[in-house]
Amino acid sequence: MSVDALLDQLTLEEKAALTSGSEFWYTVGVDRLGIRRVMVSDGPHGLRAQPQGGDHIGLNSSVPATCFPPAATVASSWDPSLLYEVGQAIGQEARAINLSVVLGPGVNIKRSPLCGRNFEYMSEDPYLAGELGVGIVDGIQSKGVGTSLKHFAANNQETDRLRVSAEVSERALREIYLPAFERVVKKSQPWTVMCSYNKINGVFSSENHWLLTEVLRDEWGFEGLVMSDWGAVYDRAKAVAAGLDLEMPPALPYSPDAVAAAVRNGTLPESVLDDRVRAVLRLAAQGAPILDLDESYDADAHHALARRVAGESAVLLTNDGLLPIAPGTIVAVIGEFALTPRYQGAGSSQVNPTRVVAPLEALSEVYETTFAPAYTIDAYEPDDALVAEAVAAATSADTVIMLLGLPGPEESEGFDRTHMNLPANQLAALAAVAAANPKLAVVLVNGSSVVLGDVMPHARALLEVWLGGQAGGGAIADIVSGAVNPSGRLAETLPHRLEDNSSYLNFPGGWQKVLYGEDVFVGYRGYDASHTDVAFPFGYGLSYTSFELSDLDVRTTGSVVTNDLAASVSVTVTNTGTKAGSHVVQVYVSDPVATIARPPRELKGFTKVALDAGASTRVSIDLDQRAFSFWLEPPHRWVVEAGDFEIAVGNDSRDLPLTHTITVDSPPVAAPLTEWSSYEEWLADDEGRALLDEASAAGQPDLRAYGDLVHVIGNFPLMSLTTFVGMSPDHDTVMEMAATWAAHHGATQ
Ligand code: BGC
Repeated sequence: MSVDALLDQLTLEEKAALTSGSEFWYTVGVDRLGIRRVMVSDGPHGLRAQPQGGDHIGLNSSVPATCFPPAATVASSWDPSLLYEVGQAIGQEARAINLSVVLGPGVNIKRSPLCGRNFEYMSEDPYLAGELGVGIVDGIQSKGVGTSLKHFAANNQETDRLRVSAEVSERALREIYLPAFERVVKKSQPWTVMCSYNKINGVFSSENHWLLTEVLRDEWGFEGLVMSDWGAVYDRAKAVAAGLDLEMPPALPYSPDAVAAAVRNGTLPESVLDDRVRAVLRLAAQGAPILDLDESYDADAHHALARRVAGESAVLLTNDGLLPIAPGTIVAVIGEFALTPRYQGAGSSQVNPTRVVAPLEALSEVYETTFAPAYTIDAYEPDDALVAEAVAAATSADTVIMLLGLPGPEESEGFDRTHMNLPANQLAALAAVAAANPKLAVVLVNGSSVVLGDVMPHARALLEVWLGGQAGGGAIADIVSGAVNPSGRLAETLPHRLEDNSSYLNFPGGWQKVLYGEDVFVGYRGYDASHTDVAFPFGYGLSYTSFELSDLDVRTTGSVVTNDLAASVSVTVTNTGTKAGSHVVQVYVSDPVATIARPPRELKGFTKVALDAGASTRVSIDLDQRAFSFWLEPPHRWVVEAGDFEIAVGNDSRDLPLTHTITVDSPPVAAPLTEWSSYEEWLADDEGRALLDEASAAGQPDLRAYGDLVHVIGNFPLMSLTTFVGMSPDHDTVMEMAATWAAHHGATQ
């Protein structure tokens, strides 16, 4: 039966009931019409299906599933096709347990390094987060399983996340916080979007008509269902009116009663409820085929994929040639994390893994190893006996591989960090071990970024593996031994100090408000604008081979007037080293002269290429008009200003050897002239200037007669100048000029 035919047969009570779930992870079914209830479940990097009794923070056990590396890790692969493969695998695992919708991915922007859920998010950059989100959504949905793009929107902290209002400019929303969602919606049509808990400029996301209806559906063309985050609904009827289709989990019996009552008393039009119900019915139809499947998945193959993904995502930060370490070497593996791995974060994304390989186990398959824990994970005070034991192990080994990282309780859903430091006991152990044997490589395991000033002096090589998922141990062995050539790149800047981050003064806010005072200057956009030195820039990562970029060619087509300006950026990449490896070619765009403060450069394209030693290839990256635009409020739209744009191509956001300047033609962008426009604005406009000339010819005073004074008080609105009698046209003339201008241009431009 079609959705509309079903809708016709539903009672008001049934419709109201359909817009809430039936229990923690299930939608409502209507048996008499054959509408089946479907299951939704976390999460982004592996499934957390709880057949008995749900909770949203991973308290109850869940069905074993492959724990792939979380978003912070896979994002460092800069490889959407790899995320597609992960998505396919997660989709297959969902089919095997008859799960219709996977609650992920999360594409919120890493506004501050302190956000407790940064391990679940992709990047500080919206373009990168969006492209990677497309990869995983397409992968999962290719299996006929739905996704839930979350948390829409501006959920960039855990502190007070259910009540806090993100006070954020329209421009920062459009340029930073929304584009990753926009990209995934437009390219992949996720089956569902999950609204965030927080408010945006005072309005809860679940009740935000502008967000859920005007932007998401009307502008971006979203065709799926909007569900709430778990417990994010406040005023039930308002949420239905705003565009929220499904409340999860359901507040029973209150929510359906409230919705039905609102329709009955005329405060909620039934046609609006019908729109919400249509979305639920469509989802039930999409998800129903999954319910009858009897499929399985290849756990070994998925574990192997998890290992490959972790290997492709690790970022080599420094290396003086110590890595790779030849197999067979006598190695001291030091650090409790080698034995007790940290491989995922805590909260609703926590997966019950099918198996876990500890780094020590995997390294012992390649090297002759001794092990010393050096520190305990749950203590912060150095333990002298453990340090002495580690020093002894280091002294008798040829090379040391030391694991450092963040203990689980330091980063989780539900709260934010307060600092970016590694625990003091780990740092003390590192200093002692490095003094005993300086042939030392540090391997970092952490989901959120840490400051590395106390680590770098002691490490001849530094490998950031983030949280590697259940097979992360194997991936560490692969990279350290050279079986895999590192090719990860930072999806977030690593600053020297927390204080250098542009959100520092306004994170996490207080009294239920957080001011996004840095505006669009988030992540590298902020460090670059304030010329702040960083430890490792956005996009950075080393390899065991080397690459060179050459022969940049930029071809532009289309125009701003026809709204189809585009540029094709081509460059040759050569592997100039002696090993096969992969390189990420990155394209940044700058608008050096603009009428608004713009970030010095922004990532607008990238591609990852694999090349044998000595091989070369030509890559092409396409930029569309958006790549040159900024958001102007008003007129509330994307704008490209005429002038020169620099297209820079390179290896990271601060290593951009090739540049090319293009000149773009574009109609001038100006706000409509009114009596409150400045004298200078009137002068700058052709018709405005003509009207001033006319007034002058008719005997009205003319500020231009006073020479330099135009420079001094030209920024006064015309209306204010009328009080400076004798300097500019009088009140009535100004009103007439404004009316004439408006009549010729319409109310807005
Ligand atoms: C989280 C979501 C998650 C949901 C269900 C919420 O607390 O914010 O990301 O999908 O719980 O577990």
